Amino acid sequence: MSIHDDIERVLIDAATLQARIAELGAQIARDTGGEPVLLVGILKGAVLFLADLARAIDAPVELDFMAVSSYGNTMQSQGRVRILKDLDDAISGKHVVLVEDIIDTGLTMSYLLDLLRQRGPASLRVCALLDKQKPRARHITVDYIGFPIENAFVVGYGLDFAQRYRNLPYIGVLKPEVYQGRKNAGG
Ligand code: PRP
Repeated sequence: MSIHDDIERVLIDAATLQARIAELGAQIARDTGGEPVLLVGILKGAVLFLADLARAIDAPVELDFMAVSSYGNTMQSQGRVRILKDLDDAISGKHVVLVEDIIDTGLTMSYLLDLLRQRGPASLRVCALLDKQKPRARHITVDYIGFPIENAFVVGYGLDFAQRYRNLPYIGVLKPEVYQGRKNAGG
């Protein structure tokens, strides 16, 4: 029994992820002109991406994290955003990049942008590994996008189903029989 057996197909393999992340890191360093960058990871899905992205940025990098809850207990976004953990430090005057594993409806990011903009950062940008190609509930500008993806239930490289599969080294599509009939899905 292997966790890989639950995957219908690999959407983005590990080498392709790393190659794109190297490009994103270089672009972020270029855009901030070598000045310090504060990467804000949105727990938990962004953790694996953030760890690799930080190492791809050739500039001083600081890390901070926020935890929010937007999905309640079902597979559909409920449109509610709750702060479970706020940033440890102030962001005033800093170049901030919000790091997400995936933008789906855009509700989470829209809320976070409104909240953090009020705290006076020098700049505030968004870097998302995956961008679901479907109509957004809220319009947001995503400055850095790793990969646009189809509207499928994807797991791996930080993305979960019922808190599992985050440790897969690639992005894959889950076999329908794995999630059918179950309700405690993640994102
Ligand atoms: C996922 C993802 C984003 C959000 C995107 O998080 O990491 O935070 O959903 O969806 P939206 O664009 O529709 O708001 P999730 O709530 O599943 O938590 P997790 O990162 O801990 O898996």
